Amino acid sequence: MNNYPHEYESSLQQPQRFWLQQARRLHWFNEPSEILSQRDDGTADWFVDGELNMAFCALDYHVDNGRGEQTALIYDSPVTQTKERYSYRELRDQVAQFAGLLKKYHVKKGDRVVIYMPMIPQAAIAMLACARLGAVHSVVFGGFAPHELAVRIEDAEPKLVITASCGVEVNKVLPYKPFVDKAIELAEVKPRHVVVWQREMCEAELQAPRDVDWQQALAEVTPAECATMKSTDPLYILYTSGTTGKPKGVVRDTGGYATALRYSMNVVYGIQPGQVMFTASDVGWVVGHSYIVYGPLLAGATTVLYEGKPVRTPDAGAFWRVCAEYGVNVLFSAPTAFRAIKKEDPEARELKHFDLSKLERIYMAGERLDPPTLEWTQEVTGKPVYDHWWQTESGWPICANPVGIAEYPIKPGSSTLPVPGYDIRILAPDSSELDANEQGAVAIKLPLPPGCLTTIWRNPERFAAGYLREFKGYYSSGDGGYKDDDGYVFIMGRTDDVINVAGHRLSTGEMEEILAMDSAVAECAVIGVSDDLKGQVPVGLVIVKDGVTVDAQELSARLVQRVRDEIGAVACLRQIHVVPRLPKTRSGKILRRLLRQLADGDTQVSIPSTIDDPSCVDELKEQLQR
Ligand code: COA
Ligand code: AMP
Repeated sequence: MNNYPHEYESSLQQPQRFWLQQARRLHWFNEPSEILSQRDDGTADWFVDGELNMAFCALDYHVDNGRGEQTALIYDSPVTQTKERYSYRELRDQVAQFAGLLKKYHVKKGDRVVIYMPMIPQAAIAMLACARLGAVHSVVFGGFAPHELAVRIEDAEPKLVITASCGVEVNKVLPYKPFVDKAIELAEVKPRHVVVWQREMCEAELQAPRDVDWQQALAEVTPAECATMKSTDPLYILYTSGTTGKPKGVVRDTGGYATALRYSMNVVYGIQPGQVMFTASDVGWVVGHSYIVYGPLLAGATTVLYEGKPVRTPDAGAFWRVCAEYGVNVLFSAPTAFRAIKKEDPEARELKHFDLSKLERIYMAGERLDPPTLEWTQEVTGKPVYDHWWQTESGWPICANPVGIAEYPIKPGSSTLPVPGYDIRILAPDSSELDANEQGAVAIKLPLPPGCLTTIWRNPERFAAGYLREFKGYYSSGDGGYKDDDGYVFIMGRTDDVINVAGHRLSTGEMEEILAMDSAVAECAVIGVSDDLKGQVPVGLVIVKDGVTVDAQELSARLVQRVRDEIGAVACLRQIHVVPRLPKTRSGKILRRLLRQLADGDTQVSIPSTIDDPSCVDELKEQLQR
């Protein structure tokens, strides 16, 4: 079987026909007749006159078509010793009931709702309830600090915030509610209500009338119906790190996204209705939105929502245990998770206790899948391991091994081929196309296929400036890479100041802004340095102001704490070097690439000819590698 060349060509040559066919796999209240509406800037709106509801397609449709008793969601929480199953009918009913609660508290179509939740089923219920009402959800990852939450609240202006009393990280209980209270205090825009799911290990204090107890309030409401949404109505805003301190609110539409996810479940993941997908990520990230919540449910599959880690909950056999216990067909996580397992259990002894016969394939994304991790995972599981490349902006895979329609060999280091719909080009700075094996900017010829971001929330200028201006007629991905002679795509890393720490996307620019606020800091740089476990970790370099005397260790500790307080534990900035100078160009730009090379201990450091003072290189090298 190799339908890929034909399918890929038709997706680019006849996009309207191709995507209408895919859209027809969903239940539309009104099927679209206008498929692709090109905007002046080359981007597109998909299915503009189509009408549907995401939650209906994900739940009600299946209940109405014989899947009501099938398990839709499995909750497995080693950190609380809990296991639960929700059938499609139960999940639909709970979502409708909770949508009724939101409605009672005045949430309506188009309103924004911020969700700040740990990995519990109520997070998915909250998202789906918003979708049911047509409210736009914005999920904020639980590892972010109040300041980050406040920034998102200010930008999204939610009518309501949904949270839980706490999260549980391995063996620590982390109260969430005080973070929400603090964020609301910091934000200039105040939500009217905060709905709190109380967890028994740490009940939150509620302040009436603003705070609402989810469990208590639920008893007094009636279920809400699905709103009819235009295909182009936003389903959610998901904030992601850019190069500055202000995160970007990626806006996702409804019909294009549903169509793309439904398609990807077949072509990329080869999942059939009734099969089980275990995506070990978090609902706070795009991977969680697309392949813990919406994708598997749209496909009539079963999704596993896992509140735990790959290791330490309780050991490196955790993923294998979940796969065996629920007959998982497809496992998806970040390479860092498998590196963590490998580090604790290099011989994969834990794996031998479990029957993985149902497991067909393993997927990794979120950061480059390094060949040793690919090979190890393949070897110990005996399963094919697929790297695939995508971004918060795309919402679904851009490059993947199209297992649902073809069989292509795996090449370590490559995320294989462009997924149908994505016209990937490797460009030089002057926008000319590069030949095979030449490295350049990875760009996507416009229009983007359905499912990708439609704009940046209330900031079309940032959308244009960030993605559309660098290469006219293309979307710039921010990643560099190349295609080989067979057209396989190799993504080599970001070309901007975004870093990936344990599969979490973070902005070094934002960390620099925080360090620069300290009264002792004259100048600073934050770079992403290679790390065996997390892929990259941030490292800070600071120059102290003239005339200020500080203890370097004290300053470092203060700055580390400051970043943790402002961004959150997830930032993982643990190392700060106090340095006398930073390498700069003659025009004063800090040479971050050079710093990265020095910190990584590259044997072939290329010192740019534009450097102002080459004499600082040796002293920095010594300090960074110490
Ligand atoms: N809520 C609150 N805090 C959180 C959190 C959450 N949802 N997730 C992480 N944190 C905290 C952790 O407790 C830790 O805090 P600490 O510094 O006080 O110990 C910090 O953020 C860093 O967490 P993490 O990056 O998870 O590091 P770790 O050392 O605890 O675990 C891995 C390392 C590799 C096991 C872990 O990062 C992992 O499982 N990664 C998978 C990646 C992933 O799911 N990526 C999503 C994209 S696919
Ligand atoms: P995020 O928006 O958090 O999903 O992060 C997207 C970024 O992660 C991309 O721009 C890449 O830099 C990186 N990334 C994700 N998946 C891969 C992959 N398979 N290979 C290389 N880099 C990846």
